[in-house]
Amino acid sequence: MRVGDDITTTVVTDDEIDPGLLVAARGVCATTFGDRFSGDDWDHTFGGVRLLLFDEGLLVGHAAVVPRRIGFGELTLRAGYVEGVAVLPESQGRGLGSRLMRAANTVIGRDGAEVGVLSTSRRSFYERLGWEPWQGPSFVRRADALVRTPDEDDGLMVLRVSAAPALTSTWPITCDARPGDDW
Ligand SMILES: CC(C)(COP(=O)(O)OP(=O)(O)OC[C@H]1O[C@@H](n2cnc3c(N)ncnc32)[C@H](O)[C@@H]1OP(=O)(O)O)[C@@H](O)C(=O)NCCC(=O)NCCS
Repeated sequence: MRVGDDITTTVVTDDEIDPGLLVAARGVCATTFGDRFSGDDWDHTFGGVRLLLFDEGLLVGHAAVVPRRIGFGELTLRAGYVEGVAVLPESQGRGLGSRLMRAANTVIGRDGAEVGVLSTSRRSFYERLGWEPWQGPSFVRRADALVRTPDEDDGLMVLRVSAAPALTSTWPITCDARPGDDW
């Protein structure tokens, strides 16, 4: 592991991002996730802010925080929804992903979201960073009907920020339908 440290994290909106950097960000996601990363997955990263992590000037990490309305029991909250968290394979295991997510946590706490939400198969990674596995059943709202999404139950995680109302972690959690993966 290299000890030297020339790591920087930039927070940028889609309005202000350089088009070449946007292409590079998609490249980081595509290389990191491989075939798992669909066009819909990329679309889901738009509409909020991106966190870009550079190692000696090269883009090696990406995450997006996008606004979504998420239901918790009877409440509907403004969530900062985390998408496209990726660190290039050769740069993993050096603390860069943690650095990226700490920046994402700060953005969520700062930009008016009442809660952070994400879906993952890497629970332990996010738990170390203050995210909590949600224990309630998950649903998607589709044409005014609530449809269970049981495959998502184990992957949904929540970050409580200072603006969060009291939430009981066994409450149902609900998102609105969208193209591609709903969560
Ligand atoms: C998940 C992902 C973003 C983590 O990025 P990363 O740069 O490897 O993250 P870190 O190095 O901070 O942490 C990874 C592991 O290395 C360990 N680690 C952190 N810093 C370390 C260091 N300095 N030295 C050795 N190990 C370290 C951590 O304990 C962590 O283990 P954990 O995940 O079991 O908690 C990255 O693995 C990735 O892009 N994966 C593929 C895409 C993906 O799954 N994205 C998330 C989907 S929601």
